Amino acid sequence: MNIDVVTLFPEAFEWFRGQRHVVNSLAAGSTLTLINPRDHTPLSGGQVDDAPFGGGAGMVLRVDVIDAALRAHYGEDPVDLRHTRRVIALTPSGRLLDERLVGELAQERAITLLCGRYEGFDERIIEHFASDVVSIGRYVLAGGELPAMVLADAVLRKLPGSLGHAASALEESFSEALGGFPEYPHYTRPAAYRGWRVPEVLLGGHHEEIQRWRLDQARHRNQ
Ligand code: ADE
Repeated sequence: MNIDVVTLFPEAFEWFRGQRHVVNSLAAGSTLTLINPRDHTPLSGGQVDDAPFGGGAGMVLRVDVIDAALRAHYGEDPVDLRHTRRVIALTPSGRLLDERLVGELAQERAITLLCGRYEGFDERIIEHFASDVVSIGRYVLAGGELPAMVLADAVLRKLPGSLGHAASALEESFSEALGGFPEYPHYTRPAAYRGWRVPEVLLGGHHEEIQRWRLDQARHRNQ
């Protein structure tokens, strides 16, 4: 999977790039490319944003700047780009990111994430360049970088070779293996701590009983 991120703060992704499952994904052939609109802006002084028409607080990312950045990187009119890859604008009011959308995006060959900053995007960026508008929750963050990392994290760990144990991605929260229910509780040593005992069934080594218990717990967590 090729993930391109259009961001004014590429350095924000340094920590993310070093995470084990991201390192594994990149080693397995995925890519994470950062595109800084400031490197491509046609405006003087590295300008990328402007005051909103109609007044109001904050600055708005300019459509001509994002047009120039996408055109420089992809060598085509960004209006056409969304026909060959998902171009996802991250905004608080977009489609809520959930396991279904993560699974859908994990099937893609390539995605482009557009990070807003300040007051967000000129609406024409969303209207003419984006195929999707995605939110990680109904709250406003200072920019799209954290949402882009959340999305990329969730998508990359779905890919083969990303996690140490393939089964851990399959069985975790909200997965089909658990009938779409949230995850079951996990325990590790010590089996008893301050009188808090691990459920007996987990210590017995009966695989079927353990599976039944886990599914039951997962169902209960959903209520
Ligand atoms: N940009 C700012 N806040 C956001 C959010 N909650 N989701 C996606 N993008 C955002």
